[in-house]
Amino acid sequence: MSLDFLTDDLLIKNNNFDRPVIVTGAGGCIGAWILTILHRSNIPCVALDLSNNKDRLKLLLGNEASKIKWQVCDITDLKMLKKTIISFNPGAIIHLAGLQVPFCAADPALGARVNVEGTINILEIAREANIKRTVYASSVAALGMPPKGTWKETLYGAYKLANEHTAFVYWADWEVPSIGIRPNIVYGLARDQGMSSKNTLAIQAAALGESFVIPYTGKYSWLYAGESALAFITSVNKDMVGSHVFNLNGPCETIENGLSIIKKLKENASVSCIGQSLPFPPDLDDVPLRNHIGEYPSISIEKGIKNTLRAFQVLKAEGRCPPMPI
Ligand SMILES: NC(=O)c1ccc[n+]([C@@H]2O[C@H](COP(=O)([O-])OP(=O)(O)OC[C@H]3O[C@@H](n4cnc5c(N)ncnc54)[C@H](O)[C@@H]3O)[C@@H](O)[C@H]2O)c1
Repeated sequence: MSLDFLTDDLLIKNNNFDRPVIVTGAGGCIGAWILTILHRSNIPCVALDLSNNKDRLKLLLGNEASKIKWQVCDITDLKMLKKTIISFNPGAIIHLAGLQVPFCAADPALGARVNVEGTINILEIAREANIKRTVYASSVAALGMPPKGTWKETLYGAYKLANEHTAFVYWADWEVPSIGIRPNIVYGLARDQGMSSKNTLAIQAAALGESFVIPYTGKYSWLYAGESALAFITSVNKDMVGSHVFNLNGPCETIENGLSIIKKLKENASVSCIGQSLPFPPDLDDVPLRNHIGEYPSISIEKGIKNTLRAFQVLKAEGRCPPMPI
């Protein structure tokens, strides 16, 4: 496929999966990358999402996307979720379904149902089906808790922290093992919504020959979407013991440096930045995660930006580049 170069270096060679991997929130950015890598690595997988919208997956995987089993299911509907997941006899669950910061702020009760109750439902199913490989997406935003600390507190962060504590209790009381991953801000193809997606949009604008101003500056954790996908997949590559939570980050580089890389690759790119730094820690390390789950590739900012720019250029040439969000 035309965008295979994005995942050629990320495929899983030591495939330790004999039963399907369920991916919730499959329609999102990280889900699309995970499904693409699993599918191209010949690892059986099932996508689960509230929505039937496969646009992000199709961006990455093209026509192959239609070969992935896709179940429309609401993570808050325990009865339907349990029936659906158990029908596939999965060996692992990668739980990503969630509502991001602005959606939780706009509807806090819905945010809690999806982000908190949804994670409880996944842990409950793991308990009942004796699944020993469950990884769930927490977030760097959990570090904004308790309130009035160094980093911004959000309802989203409060919900993610609640999930971490819930997972600890599921291990302590019922020996349901899990890993919680706190991704920093992700960039790359298919990262198209949310305040912190603007540096990805700048790369897209450069590819399309449009101007773009990123509304934040300064130090930033350049966590490439493909690298974050690999962290989730590597986490479920073997049975787990205990309940653990780890930070997941990219190289700490300034937004300004990212813009210089874009301009080196595309000389006439009209991209700039303005404003404050994002209120999340940009320079945490991944050593504890890598020590726990094993190594997986790190993607440099140069490679991540180069591949993302090239991907948008290929999509433009093929006439299937998504329009810039308004
Ligand atoms: N992208 C990032 O920078 C980032 C950073 C830290 C943490 N995370 C977390 O990682 C996970 C994946 O992130 P993403 O960027 O791919 O998210 P995303 O917002 O792109 O996708 C989330 C998916 O969840 C689905 N969903 C929402 N409500 C649902 C429900 N009730 N039932 C089933 N599915 C539902 C949506 O349809 C969507 O496809 C999320 O939990 C997010 O909070 C993301």
